[in-house]
Amino acid sequence: MEHVYVSDIAKYEGQEVILKGWLYNKRSSGKLHFLQLRDGTGIIQCVVFKGDVPEEIFNLADKITQESSIIIQGVVRADKRSPIGYEIGVKGLKVVQMAEDYPITPKEHGVAFLMEHRHLWLRSTRQHAILRIRSEIIKACRSYLDDNGFILIDAPIFTPAACEGTTTLFETDYFGEKAYLTQSGQLYMEAAAMAFGRVYCFGPTFRAEKSKTRRHLTEFWMVEPEMAYYDLNDDMDLAESLLEHIVKQVLKNKRRELETLERDISALEKIEKPFPRITYTEAIEILNKKGMTMTWGDDFGGDEETVLSKEFEKPVLVHRYPLQCKAFYMKADPQDPRLALCVDVLAPEGYGEIIGGGQREDDLKTLEQKIREHNLPMEAFKWYLDLRRYGSVPHAGFGLGIERTVAWICGLHHVRETIPFPRLMERITP
Ligand code: 4AD
Ligand code: MG
Repeated sequence: MEHVYVSDIAKYEGQEVILKGWLYNKRSSGKLHFLQLRDGTGIIQCVVFKGDVPEEIFNLADKITQESSIIIQGVVRADKRSPIGYEIGVKGLKVVQMAEDYPITPKEHGVAFLMEHRHLWLRSTRQHAILRIRSEIIKACRSYLDDNGFILIDAPIFTPAACEGTTTLFETDYFGEKAYLTQSGQLYMEAAAMAFGRVYCFGPTFRAEKSKTRRHLTEFWMVEPEMAYYDLNDDMDLAESLLEHIVKQVLKNKRRELETLERDISALEKIEKPFPRITYTEAIEILNKKGMTMTWGDDFGGDEETVLSKEFEKPVLVHRYPLQCKAFYMKADPQDPRLALCVDVLAPEGYGEIIGGGQREDDLKTLEQKIREHNLPMEAFKWYLDLRRYGSVPHAGFGLGIERTVAWICGLHHVRETIPFPRLMERITP
């Protein structure tokens, strides 16, 4: 007899099959036990009828505890009341391991309790929906870039220098020398872009964020495309196309999961190119009209991003921030050298920044000057400066944060549920 998965059950109507999984839930009434078996691909009701099975199987079904691992043999029957259209008429039941009292019960638990039990919490329907959507988002990022001429180039995790400011570096001992966990693969992607033209990396990045906000993790995943001979406009076009592609692919392949999360799908259906583009200066005007008191030169925090992104139904591209707000590698706008040729993409519905990027400084002398101004160690950037010595060209790129994108697309308030095992300032377990 064949071991089949719940997701494929329709193919086996009328046949006897084997399902291997765990007991999600159970309900009994007289001569019947209704076992909800989950196997990772879905949940199916397995009906144990007293008249159909030997007595010891019926009694075993009565005793099985929540989350016990079980193997069920039975016949696949169409059933109109079932959310998946089928149920199993049980003939055989084996308990692989009888679970102890399971700490997560169908009643409501507090977030702290659930976070502490994240290793078990992952088994719930809601977490399944979120992490399946996460998987689809990653797939969509990768397939879009893979299909559009990009090459995947992996960036290192141990790095000798800061990319995104020295205040959020995780330091580690590297055989007696200081090394840091990477904040971004960008500088390595710039080298790769000069070798391959259009490249991207996808991997974990680390920031010692001392802020406890709903948007910050200390370990998060980023997709970072980098393109030779791209300017800021080309960069913005790519960010827009990539985001449109991601949302469309999730709508196409993960609609059921979005429904499980009760996501407002109509809001996602509006995500079509072109997206609005505003300058930083225009953004400041909007914020001040909304009653915030911003002066030109201030950087945006979470509150400002929330207000701005509620103004638009689509992601908004905010470009040309003051150079002083941004990292050392940003190229100044030749039209107005106070501005950086950069872009942040803010997701709508108050989600805020999901993408940060821009055009890179490509002139050797200017870049050396910027490294000095930012008090960064010139020696550590020697290799990076080589890229401006040997065939420097205009180039641009950006980083898309996976978790914030998942939070937006799933409609979650906090990023902690968007990653299987979140790392936050106050949490490193499980
Ligand atoms: O804006 P950021 O800091 O840009 C960079 O790191 C560039 N070097 C990327 C590049 O151009 N290749 O980060 C990019 C994105 C943010 O827009 C956000 O989505 C995410 O990374 N991000 C975080 N996500 C979760 N927790 C944090 N602490 C994050 N910091 C940044
Ligand atoms: Mg940023």
